Amino acid sequence: MTIAITGVTGQLGQHVVAALRDMGRADDVVGIARSPEKAVDLGISIRKADYEDLASLEAAFEGVATVLLISSSEIGKRVAQHRNVIAAAEAAGVARVAYTSILHADTTPLMLGQEHRASELSLIESGLAYTLLRNGWYTENYAAGIPVAIQAGAFIGCAGTGRIASATRRDYAEAAAKVLTGEGHENRIYELAGDTAYTRAEMAGEVSRLAGGEIPYHDLTQAGYAEALASAGLPQVLCDLLADSDAGAAKGGLFGDERHLSQLIGRPTTPMAETVKAMMP
Ligand SMILES: NC(=O)c1ccc[n+]([C@@H]2O[C@H](COP(=O)([O-])OP(=O)(O)OC[C@H]3O[C@@H](n4cnc5c(N)ncnc54)[C@H](OP(=O)(O)O)[C@@H]3O)[C@@H](O)[C@H]2O)c1
Repeated sequence: MTIAITGVTGQLGQHVVAALRDMGRADDVVGIARSPEKAVDLGISIRKADYEDLASLEAAFEGVATVLLISSSEIGKRVAQHRNVIAAAEAAGVARVAYTSILHADTTPLMLGQEHRASELSLIESGLAYTLLRNGWYTENYAAGIPVAIQAGAFIGCAGTGRIASATRRDYAEAAAKVLTGEGHENRIYELAGDTAYTRAEMAGEVSRLAGGEIPYHDLTQAGYAEALASAGLPQVLCDLLADSDAGAAKGGLFGDERHLSQLIGRPTTPMAETVKAMMP
């Protein structure tokens, strides 16, 4: 059985390859990359294809039984790109596509949900067997801001007291590896989130404890947060997206308690404090 992994040069894709290697399945894997030169160290066979190029995807899926479609990072272009992947999978005779979506894609308040929901519907309507991996927030998203917050003396955001049930890319990647290689995942939807949840103030508290000094969390309005990010030099579209996601968190958009993630990986998800510790400067 050949398993193709798109987005294999990305951070999640690399963790999926590592998880499949740990399961002794590296020989069954083909990585799909638009820039194969970035994938030389992965130690798996690589085929070149771009989400924008249907013919390249069709050729790359030859002989493939299962595709992991890792959602594209090109926000705004993703529905058409994902439809290309789905159409190519159909044309190449792929049996099942697993898609990395967003937690509660059908009800999420996050703007990011729109492209994911449209992509999910395209996959379901294709008639291919599917598995929807509705990934929650990566803990690394917030933890990546630790050095800047320490330097600035505070965290900022607009997530209020919203609880964030995040997990690490590695946790989500292990779940993907299980779903790609296991039985009984056809036409299933998994709501994937961390076992424990925290507020942004609680993450700031954990950082303060490890830093040995108070790094508070300041809650701003959504517009105020977007403005603060823009004044730090981030592109406007990214500022709006981050502020929208934080505002979504305030409404519970990053919280889930289905426990599908720990059930799939057969262990508790990585606690926030562990990720924070690993990402302290
Ligand atoms: N759950 C969350 O918190 C969260 C956070 C951020 C993103 N995401 C989503 O999850 C996905 C995986 O996360 P990640 O951390 O691995 O992201 P990442 O490191 O940015 O990886 C994105 C991957 O998509 C590939 N890609 C982008 N456009 C492509 C195209 N036109 N054709 C072929 N490949 C293309 C990239 O290839 P190159 O290496 O050639 O650029 C890369 O391999 C992201 O793309 C995004 O959709 C989720």
